[in-house]
Amino acid sequence: MLSREDNELLTRVSGDAPMGRMIRQHWWIPAGLSAQLEADGKPRRVRLLGRNYVAFRATGGKVGFFDEACPHRGASMALARNEDNALRCIYHGWKFSVEGVTVAVPTQPANEAEYCKHVPLEHYPVREEGGIYWVWLGEGDTPPKFQNFEFCGLPPGHVVAVCQTVPANWLQGVETTMDSAHLGMLHQSWLSSVGDIRLSSANMAPVYHVEQKPYGFRYASVRALADGSSYVRTNSFVLPWYGVVAPGRSQSRGGNFFFAVPVDDEHLCYWNIVYDFDQPVEITQQVSDTRPESWPPLPPGPPEDNWGQDREAMKNGHFTGFTQALGTEDFAVIMSMGPIVDRSKEYLGAGDGAVLAVRRCLLAAVREFMQNRTPALANHEAIPYERIRPVAAVFDGEARWREML
Ligand code: FES
Ligand SMILES: [Fe+2]
Repeated sequence: MLSREDNELLTRVSGDAPMGRMIRQHWWIPAGLSAQLEADGKPRRVRLLGRNYVAFRATGGKVGFFDEACPHRGASMALARNEDNALRCIYHGWKFSVEGVTVAVPTQPANEAEYCKHVPLEHYPVREEGGIYWVWLGEGDTPPKFQNFEFCGLPPGHVVAVCQTVPANWLQGVETTMDSAHLGMLHQSWLSSVGDIRLSSANMAPVYHVEQKPYGFRYASVRALADGSSYVRTNSFVLPWYGVVAPGRSQSRGGNFFFAVPVDDEHLCYWNIVYDFDQPVEITQQVSDTRPESWPPLPPGPPEDNWGQDREAMKNGHFTGFTQALGTEDFAVIMSMGPIVDRSKEYLGAGDGAVLAVRRCLLAAVREFMQNRTPALANHEAIPYERIRPVAAVFDGEARWREML
């Protein structure tokens, strides 16, 4: 349970909310899928932490990221012409290079060159990794070190990213990522359909072992198997929103990243990156038939219709009645909690250890930020992000999996 004040501090990101300011300043933010930006193609509107931006790929391939509103009189730069390594606003033709330099102001012929130097165009550093373009929205000239996770630099095909915008506060997304205890219940129909009985409801109550780390924490969830051995999954929480989760197939060298990026106070963008060192990631027909920026599907109905839950499917053996995809089940529960869940009204138990640890990390960080300090958990120079690796395996004794922590 949290106080109302702490819940506000954790969840609010728009305007001048400290959490939003801290995230903008100290982390690179995944903003969209690289494949959506075509050279000289349509600019994309992007909303992050309650503000509106526009992303585009210039003629030469570089990605630009500006405030959406034209600095002249606010027309959307999503409508701009994308040509000649620049965006040209269609209203009065002001032109801004992908580097963020104002290169033409045709409405100011007398002193155009001088005038251009003072146009307050807001533009931001961009970096592309893992099929995603990331942006730094902080103040000053020096972005933080990029979190170079182990999927960075993998060849195309070995890392696949999908995302979906969900009407719920970002923390609900982060908490469900790290809440291993719901797997065997909420997702039981999916897990049994892929044959993963080790996570099934027979061993609902994993024992958690949490270890603090310079990036957040890592935990092992240990499930006792009938033969006396232990099925261990070690997952990590990396600030501000990354869940580094073990792959379903325990043989593969790779993993999953799940992360909930705040669009604004009441919307999140839920991302999933799957990567594999040894072979290209297999994409199911269902995923490849859908747009990667809208996967997994949202629940199909409105709240008045219980989010489209299929009671007939439940009668026929499906546990949740959300048969679309595993992620749809997550979206249904986090949307059902309301846009920002009131954590002063919850009643937590033994299975909520990782959720509590997420909150502790984020609260500690935002409190340091409010005292004008760089949060200890954002000390990127000292963190070997490329070595954060999830594990899922069966172990005989305790000693071996403890090494994995
Ligand atoms: S509003 Fe963009 S050029 Fe005038
Ligand atoms: Fe889930």
